[in-house]
Amino acid sequence: SGFLAGIAAGKAASGPTTTATLTVQVLYGTQTGNSLELAETAAGALRGSGLGAELRELDAVSPGDLAAASHVLVITSTYGEGEMPDNAELFWDALAGEAAPRLEQLSFSVLALGDSGYDDFCQAGKLIDLRLEQLGATRIEPRVDCDVDFDGPAAGWTERVTAALVALAPAGTAAAPQSSPTAVPARPRSRWNRNTPSASRLAVNRVVSGPGSAKEIRHFEFDLGDSDIGYSAGDALAVVPRNDPGLVGALLERLGIDPEDDVDGVPVEQRLHAEWEIRTPSKDLVAGLAERAPASELASMVRRDDRETLDSWLWGRDVLDLLEETGVRLTADELGGLLRPLQARQYSISSSPLHSPDRIHLTIASVRHAGPGGSSRVRGGVCSTFLADRCGDDGAVGIFPQPNHAFSVPEDPSTPIIMIGPGTGIAPFRGFLQERAASGATGGNWLFFGDQHRASDFIYEDELTDYRERGLLTRLDLAFSRDQTDKIYVQTRMREAATELYRWVDEGAYLYVCGDASRMAKDVDRALHDVVESVRGLGDDDAAEYVAALKREKRYVRDVY
Ligand code: 2AM
Repeated sequence: SGFLAGIAAGKAASGPTTTATLTVQVLYGTQTGNSLELAETAAGALRGSGLGAELRELDAVSPGDLAAASHVLVITSTYGEGEMPDNAELFWDALAGEAAPRLEQLSFSVLALGDSGYDDFCQAGKLIDLRLEQLGATRIEPRVDCDVDFDGPAAGWTERVTAALVALAPAGTAAAPQSSPTAVPARPRSRWNRNTPSASRLAVNRVVSGPGSAKEIRHFEFDLGDSDIGYSAGDALAVVPRNDPGLVGALLERLGIDPEDDVDGVPVEQRLHAEWEIRTPSKDLVAGLAERAPASELASMVRRDDRETLDSWLWGRDVLDLLEETGVRLTADELGGLLRPLQARQYSISSSPLHSPDRIHLTIASVRHAGPGGSSRVRGGVCSTFLADRCGDDGAVGIFPQPNHAFSVPEDPSTPIIMIGPGTGIAPFRGFLQERAASGATGGNWLFFGDQHRASDFIYEDELTDYRERGLLTRLDLAFSRDQTDKIYVQTRMREAATELYRWVDEGAYLYVCGDASRMAKDVDRALHDVVESVRGLGDDDAAEYVAALKREKRYVRDVY
């Protein structure tokens, strides 16, 4: 570390920015790559204005580095329940600690990404912003909290911080800001993105879970045709869904709105079908309905301001449920004003381009459940049921790839890998195994997989058994939780295999986790700490340091949701 040494204002930095006298550290925390992309854009804007810019992930920066810096921009997303993204955790642990240095010499601004559909909106950015202030640093520009449609607010923030930093640069050292400093990203990206998805044919749609499973897991294949979409094993694919026309019709009928009613030049039916989120009620909708129906149960819960009760009441209820339960009538315009934009959904790709260059595979559980009070209407997940039920044979689906650079097989083919992916968490590892088979990689491959029942939930059983027989899978540890009286989970198997697991890791294996973030990934993390503690005979703190080092080396990486 120490990379920030010598870049205090007025001192030239090394690297490509030696001519600038004010160098800005552009630090990002990212889970899916959006913050990285915005950080690259910001760095490009700064350089375009004659300033120096250095791009780093937050975990590569220590509080000591910050104490030696003069200007930083922090761009970070939040994931899970208000948590730091994976490559900002170590940074945050150190910054939040009592040993963090005073940062009076530092100027900063924070751009926070989040999703207002979740509690603790933009929490990671808010925490860093507050902590930097507490440590005495000076805010150049107020923090901006971006919702899922972040392009506009992010561009505005970038433009303002660039102008502010140009103004701070010693006179005559920075070029005049360009008229549109944010227009050009630092390096070209895939031409397919949120605004221009590729229209691809869904070529395969097959249920892979067995009869009697609690879940309906499907295997999908998108034909890439001549779209020139490139991808790597471990990347995600974003899918642009459309809402269930049946639900759209029911909403219009409930509100007595004419489907042809125009909302800013587009028929409301079309907006509901393709542009507005109608499954999960937005915070605005909850507040708006509570205000219009003060006597409703919803309104009394909103007034009580007890988030937990409200959340558990809202769980499983969709927009139609809320309209029915409050009896509120809205016009098309009012409805539009209270709904959030319909978002693309991201899924871990379950194939490798070496094995399947022309098709991207996905492995997705269809979300379907009953409503509150035993209501028989099935509430379906927006995108999983769109793919399962509503993409006809020749229906083109909008897709775009989302690179996940950290989550990829090791460059060195002799490096062993350990993959922990119960349920649909298997997806990226199917891609990894295809990749390792196709490339002839010699490193060991160890997979932990599980679900409720072997008979109905052992998806891709034939492929995995075949890999095991051929020796590509060095070890396959299965954990079917409900096939015996005691619950057996993947972390149970990790603990059972502690000695061997530790040996692999200590000999340089990469460790990957994919799947449920709220419980599984936390318990697996605990199990990993326990394995290190028990095999090495280490205490809590030393085991934590060992695991932190793995993270820092990008040998312990997660794709959890
Ligand atoms: P269970 O539902 O039988 O408890 C996929 O959902 C699998 O993950 C199921 O076998 C489920 O077990 C299991 N699972 C539930 N909680 C888990 C946890 N905290 N850690 C790991 N696996 C878990």
